[in-house]
Amino acid sequence: MESNLKTNINEEILNIEKIRNDFPILKQLIHNKPLCYLDNAASTQKPQIVIDTINNFYSTTNSNIHRGVHYLSEKSTQAFENARIKVKDFINAKSEKEIIFTSGTTASINLVAQSFGRKYLNEDDEIIVTTMEHHSNIVPWQLLCDEKNANLKVVKINDIGELLLDSLNDLISEKTKLISVMHVSNTLGTINPIKEIIKIAHQNNVPVLLDAAQSIQHIEIDVQELDCDFLAFSGHKIYGPTGIGILYGKENLLDEMPPFMGGGDMISKVTFEETTFNELPFKFEAGTSNIAGAIGLGAAIDYVKSIGIENIKEYETNLLNAATDAVKEIPGIKIIGNAKEKTSVLSFVIDNIHPHDIGTFLDFEGVAIRTGHHCTQPLMDFFKIPATSRASFAFYNTLEEVEQLTIALKKTIEVFN
Ligand code: ALA
Repeated sequence: MESNLKTNINEEILNIEKIRNDFPILKQLIHNKPLCYLDNAASTQKPQIVIDTINNFYSTTNSNIHRGVHYLSEKSTQAFENARIKVKDFINAKSEKEIIFTSGTTASINLVAQSFGRKYLNEDDEIIVTTMEHHSNIVPWQLLCDEKNANLKVVKINDIGELLLDSLNDLISEKTKLISVMHVSNTLGTINPIKEIIKIAHQNNVPVLLDAAQSIQHIEIDVQELDCDFLAFSGHKIYGPTGIGILYGKENLLDEMPPFMGGGDMISKVTFEETTFNELPFKFEAGTSNIAGAIGLGAAIDYVKSIGIENIKEYETNLLNAATDAVKEIPGIKIIGNAKEKTSVLSFVIDNIHPHDIGTFLDFEGVAIRTGHHCTQPLMDFFKIPATSRASFAFYNTLEEVEQLTIALKKTIEVFN
């Protein structure tokens, strides 16, 4: 197993030992066992450079941005805007104006729902999502549809967890105002055929929002090539801090959209009679932003780029394949989500053992996984299960950890049976 994995990895670029040294948290023992962190789809760990960058910001530069003329304020503003440029380059947006700092994917999607949605959605109009969406890509649209008397339509999936694209064709109509779809499923790992989705949508003049929360850390994203209209992701899923996220939007769309939140920094002039708004992207960044978070995200992006997203993808795919093969062999385990195109997410159920018991037992073996509905209850309903256990891999995980997971699972089954 080990040699098979290694032959597929360019070790000069992806030096796992060195990489693991970059992540101080991984050195811990949990319940006297080496930490085997396989909950990366929930949140990734932070490399030292991200921790140091944030620490350094607060130790040397901290000050509010866009407001002061003093040295620290200018330095802080520069660092913040520099982070915006890093994000812009990373996803190949045309302009910094298209990069809005939010608190995370959820905030980004709600921004589009409340700004774009409130402006363009009318009674009986439709928004299209899919069965596998995260609650954060369902509930904001439900709230909007309730308010507008509009309807939420759902693209169905098949039993292995792939979208049924034909049903998208059937659902789109002149009433469709937006398709909002996840690039990668947090529960199944399915990589959705977003190019086809965007093509079909644009043939019908419908814009597309991509929820990239589970893809930004695994797959190269070029928003111009994809031609998506909006894209949302969170910093903490890509080795950056929590509380920071991105909304990308095409400039012409963002320009036409009304502000979402009112407050400082997003205005041009305020009188009691009338307020005019700041230019993009500041129009959507009311209040003091998460400055340290943005700068930390910039450092995380630099780190990911230094390793190379293609190398990350290749290595993680190998880990997933090794884990899938090993877990498949264990009697009583059923994998949920067997799409042909997957990122490194392995969801499964075990006969007669509740996922929460599996998670608790694995924790005693040092193995951190997530159990539950993964904020995808409609997807659980589709599979007629209450929950799954989910191991999700990052490029700092190893084949030894796949083995640690497998041994812990076998032990769990033994104990419960
Ligand atoms: N959405 C995150 C997950 O899938 C929290 O775990």
